[in-house]
Amino acid sequence: MPETRKLVAYFSRAGQNYVGGSIVDLPEGNSKVAAEAIAEKDGADLFEIETVDAYPTDYTECTEVAAAEKRTGVRPELATDIDTDPYDVIYLCYPNWWGTCPMAVLAFLEGHDFSDKVIRPLCTNEGSGMGSSERDIREAAPGAMVGEGLAVTGGAVVRSRDVIQRWAEE
Ligand SMILES: Cc1cc2nc3c(=O)[nH]c(=O)nc-3n(C[C@H](O)[C@H](O)[C@H](O)COP(=O)(O)O)c2cc1C
Repeated sequence: MPETRKLVAYFSRAGQNYVGGSIVDLPEGNSKVAAEAIAEKDGADLFEIETVDAYPTDYTECTEVAAAEKRTGVRPELATDIDTDPYDVIYLCYPNWWGTCPMAVLAFLEGHDFSDKVIRPLCTNEGSGMGSSERDIREAAPGAMVGEGLAVTGGAVVRSRDVIQRWAEE
């Protein structure tokens, strides 16, 4: 049996964020922490989805930009890319932005062919869970097998490492 090749692709934003009811300054984004926990346990490759135009570190400004992007359905230009062909399983880690994944995640998915690959979504959030992200991911990656996602509270991501790693191993 050929070895299953795994990729952890993530979008995450360091800076001001809303965590547990207050605004805090995150040196490293929550979804990045989750992505690193998976890659470390699973020996998967790690890839960061980055946009050409960085999002504001100011929380309120970022929510405004993200709301406008969601409203218009824009696909922001990406600054990073990876050949996804060799991979069989793609863990996709991202924050919940206004009830779904950031538009950059959809831009990444639409830019590749994930037919017959397994996508495993993990969404960090502050109460909205996965939102509609699983449905939106299925639409953006036709032909992929999108597994049941894991919703992780952003503020609890560090102490959720075990839960995340167990889910990744399933
Ligand atoms: C632009 C923006 C929109 C957000 N919208 C939601 C939301 O609709 N529901 C929710 O539960 N959390 C929301 N959050 C909180 C983030 O999902 C949460 O803090 C997440 O863990 C951030 O991940 P990151 O540090 O990897 O970027 C939002 C945060 C931002 C910056």
